[in-house]
Amino acid sequence: MKKLKLVLTMVTAAFVLLLTACGTSETSGENGGKSEEKTLRVVTDAAYAPFEYLDKGEVTGFSVDFINAVAKQAGYKVKIENVGWDPLFVEIEGKTADLAISSITINDKRKKTYDFTVPYFLSTNKIMVPKESPIKSAGDLKGKTVAVQNGTTGQEAVEKMFGAENKNLKKFENNNLAIMELKSGGADAVVADNTVVEEYVKNNPKDNLVVIEDTNAFEKEFYGVLFPKGSKLRGEFDKAIKEIMENGEYAKVYKKWFNIEPDLTDIKAQQ
Ligand code: ARG
Repeated sequence: MKKLKLVLTMVTAAFVLLLTACGTSETSGENGGKSEEKTLRVVTDAAYAPFEYLDKGEVTGFSVDFINAVAKQAGYKVKIENVGWDPLFVEIEGKTADLAISSITINDKRKKTYDFTVPYFLSTNKIMVPKESPIKSAGDLKGKTVAVQNGTTGQEAVEKMFGAENKNLKKFENNNLAIMELKSGGADAVVADNTVVEEYVKNNPKDNLVVIEDTNAFEKEFYGVLFPKGSKLRGEFDKAIKEIMENGEYAKVYKKWFNIEPDLTDIKAQQ
């Protein structure tokens, strides 16, 4: 009888231990400070100021501060590496990186291969041209040489208007090369995300460029953080993104880069 009691006590004790162990591992992600913070490998294409670009060899920009804030909220550390645009998709598909942040527009085509977080930024394509250009709308791009970054929604939008076989479309590995082509006269226009071309025009007044908006031709787009399909981290990052939009951290980062309060109406409506 005594022996049975002992065995029972031991079994109960083991059971209690097991439950406690499960409990900690489940909550350790939330209160990141308690457990050792895991460092995640983040890939980007750092040629898209002010979102992600190189400053003295360091990847910097809105996206960097944003992903650091999100990761911190979720209980992780991140190490960001500039691998380039096409390679970042290869890395995420091959799961050699944990996530990518690169002003990546959420769309159905990409959703087939990758997972996205909830939206965190509103964007639209716009046209950048020389001040004296006759181009005043997207329709005016017909027959003109347009420079875009290969594999972007800017390329897609131009192809949708003038066909994928369009010989006047010049595709570049990164957006800075597309801008250089415009400046050297090799292209009549660049189509890229509004914030990027607007920032370029503002910072380079001597280039005499202007930005044209065309809401009929270019849709609203939303950026998301890119994950391998089925990544378990995605849910934690969704939660953290929503949290920093509530607790003021997102606004802090936004104000640092854009000097104004963020308008989260459209973004929240999409979440
Ligand atoms: N938002 C556009 C897209 O997703 C362009 C993003 C380009 N990003 C970059 N880091 N070069 O296609």
